[in-house]
Amino acid sequence: MFMELSGFYKLSVEERLAKIKKIAGLTDEEAALLASTGALKSDVADRMAENVVGAVHLPLGIATNFRVNGKEYLVPMAIEEPSVIAAASKAAKLALPKGFTAEAEEPVMIGQMQIVGVGNAVEAIGKLDAKKKEIMKICSEQLKGLERYGGGIRNVVFRTLKTPRGEMVLAEFEVDMRDAMGANMMNTMLEAVSPTVAEFAGGETRLRIISNLATKRKVKARAVWKKDKTGEDSIEKILDCYELAANDIYRCATHNKGVMNGIDAVAVACGQDWRAIEAGMHAYAAISGEYRPVTHYEKDKDGNLAGTIELPMAVATVGGAINTLDTARVALKILGAKTSQELGMVMACAGLANNFAALYALSTEGIQKGHMRLHARNIAVLAGAETPEEIDGVAERMSEKETYTLDSAKEALKKIRKG
Ligand code: HMG
Repeated sequence: MFMELSGFYKLSVEERLAKIKKIAGLTDEEAALLASTGALKSDVADRMAENVVGAVHLPLGIATNFRVNGKEYLVPMAIEEPSVIAAASKAAKLALPKGFTAEAEEPVMIGQMQIVGVGNAVEAIGKLDAKKKEIMKICSEQLKGLERYGGGIRNVVFRTLKTPRGEMVLAEFEVDMRDAMGANMMNTMLEAVSPTVAEFAGGETRLRIISNLATKRKVKARAVWKKDKTGEDSIEKILDCYELAANDIYRCATHNKGVMNGIDAVAVACGQDWRAIEAGMHAYAAISGEYRPVTHYEKDKDGNLAGTIELPMAVATVGGAINTLDTARVALKILGAKTSQELGMVMACAGLANNFAALYALSTEGIQKGHMRLHARNIAVLAGAETPEEIDGVAERMSEKETYTLDSAKEALKKIRKG
């Protein structure tokens, strides 16, 4: 099969799909599913990735009730999982009337350059420090476009790193990316400046790449859930649940996954590099040497639940996939963020909201009730329900009985069809 696919990338989308259809034994209907690329035109998809044969589609919903720093937002979320959008909307509603407060650092990304073979690393750093201005000037020449928008090189710091392959020098470049995510600009700049840095250091450069641990581009958000809305007892229970995440890594992974339910969903809707955001969140969660929750909960002086979130947020309102994905542009228009910092703040609020909603459900009625009620319609379809009446009818019967299994769906469908 592999030889059959040599040069696969040179074929058109249609030719590739025909080939895959034959090899994988797809039916006409299955191949047609892939060919219907929807809002993402086939030729655009073909330019965005390699070996393209079609497109996948996700539901796009709007989380409601978000007020951040006094401004109201409609928050687009693209996600395949039921109950995430409902949960975000519920948490945001419970945080009203004040909603969330948030702040964002300047949009500074870190780019790393590895320098090896310098001999004495401390001496090499001395030489680099002496030439810092010259190095930054070359960076600036590479970033003229960005400087027009107020961004640009902000600093370069040098440090040593002891490794089993010897001592290395790291040059870390801090660039204000304004409303871009900045990976391409950073990597281009690093490659352009690296021969000079190698020469000044008296060594050779190896890796030259952006770091996804964007600790200079963090956002923080906060909300207070009032005890008269959530119940004092629920606050105690949520705090118990939170402590488990704060003290046990197995729970903490799931806790942070609940945060990313919201953040990833907005990221996917708005054409963001969600892998970079995920990587940044997990690395930041472990930055103390221990993997920790990226949210924090405590009671305020009035006994209400104060929730906070802090994490790196390398997001953009220009460039990258936003240029090619029409739906991302529309989603960003719906959200209405004018800058990458504003987008990052709203995304952090979505993460906090989803985390709170999950903890609230988990610590009170359990996750399955609300989540499965919304998942019930999918189970109904799996059980064979065809019409909207059948699907809703099966879902309703399952939620009455609070039994969300395929068998119970089939039984409900049988009863509905008998009349
Ligand atoms: P509910 O109490 O039935 O909601 O909650 P409600 O009827 O009180 O409605 C309150 C608001 O919620 C509504 O306000 C809506 O904004 C929203 P309104 O519009 O009426 O003024 N809302 C909905 N929005 C859209 N569609 C709906 C809907 N229902 C309410 N159908 C809810 C129901 C599902 C929200 C609640 O049970 C909940 O938040 N559950 C948690 C769900 C969740 O976290 N899902 C994520 C998937 S599970 C997971 O992956 C993460 C996890 O493992 C993370 C972790 O362990 O920490 C759990």
